[in-house]
Amino acid sequence: MTTFQPFDMERMMSKWENVVTYNLSESGVHPATIRDLVDDPTVIEDLLSTELNYPQANGIAVLRERIADLYPDATPDNVLVTVGCAEANFITLQTLLAPGDEMVMMLPNYMQLWGIAHNYGFQLKSFHLQEERGWAPDLEQLSDAVSERTKLIAVCNPNNPTGYILTEAEMEAIVATAARVGAWLLADEVYSGAERLTDTQTPSFWGRYNRVLAMNSLSKAYGLPGLRIGWVVGPADTVDEIWARHEYTTISAAMLSNKLAAIALSPQVRPRLIRRARNYIRQGFPILEGC
Ligand SMILES: Cc1ncc(COP(=O)(O)O)c(C=O)c1O
Repeated sequence: MTTFQPFDMERMMSKWENVVTYNLSESGVHPATIRDLVDDPTVIEDLLSTELNYPQANGIAVLRERIADLYPDATPDNVLVTVGCAEANFITLQTLLAPGDEMVMMLPNYMQLWGIAHNYGFQLKSFHLQEERGWAPDLEQLSDAVSERTKLIAVCNPNNPTGYILTEAEMEAIVATAARVGAWLLADEVYSGAERLTDTQTPSFWGRYNRVLAMNSLSKAYGLPGLRIGWVVGPADTVDEIWARHEYTTISAAMLSNKLAAIALSPQVRPRLIRRARNYIRQGFPILEGC
């Protein structure tokens, strides 16, 4: 048994983020309020009358439909709603890998997958984004790291912490490397929509290869981390297997969060939230640079 690897960064934040005056470690924007989501009295009345039952365990139908609409040719059967992207990442790895299996991960990164790999005895290799090349990925290093033993490649795009966005050619090269050995591609895309330098939303890996699992949540680009709503989009049979782990882990996300998330992803509200997050990022960056 390996020693347990705590998630050091989250541990530090859990202990300090609610007691310091200035929190420079948060990777999202200032959170939105319920008022930012709803102003229509009939919608407010509907929310107040919500029975706090278990929701549909894999996500209420309207929410899974709205998520599916964000991905080309996806249907609600391709979608599992989770408690944040953190749960999506966790139960997806649990579904696809067994102790001793090999995965290759992009670094630097949000280190959740790295810690899970350590704690569950997955063999971990890495490939790097290179600072001297503006954080472009070392695709040769990826290709060398991937072998017939590789079960999964994990990327984070846009990347946390560098903000680097893969080019179309780089995305295609990563897909080709995964396809060479039939590896799964786990794409953490929580920062899609939170671009600082462009108004073009970062495209998903979904649809580029039949073994893609695209992760996302409302925590970053939508400014709603407290809803604790995330999701995984993937092949329907695999999503069903991941759902079976979700039933052991959390059963479902909260009913009110499901409903508020469906409102957040409605065509009327979603663009407003994305614009709001980009404004925070674009106004905040020069202030940080000047510090
Ligand atoms: C890359 C990345 N993935 C996942 C998460 C967890 O997100 P969530 O709040 O949706 O669980 C974070 C949080 O910082 C993150 O940076």
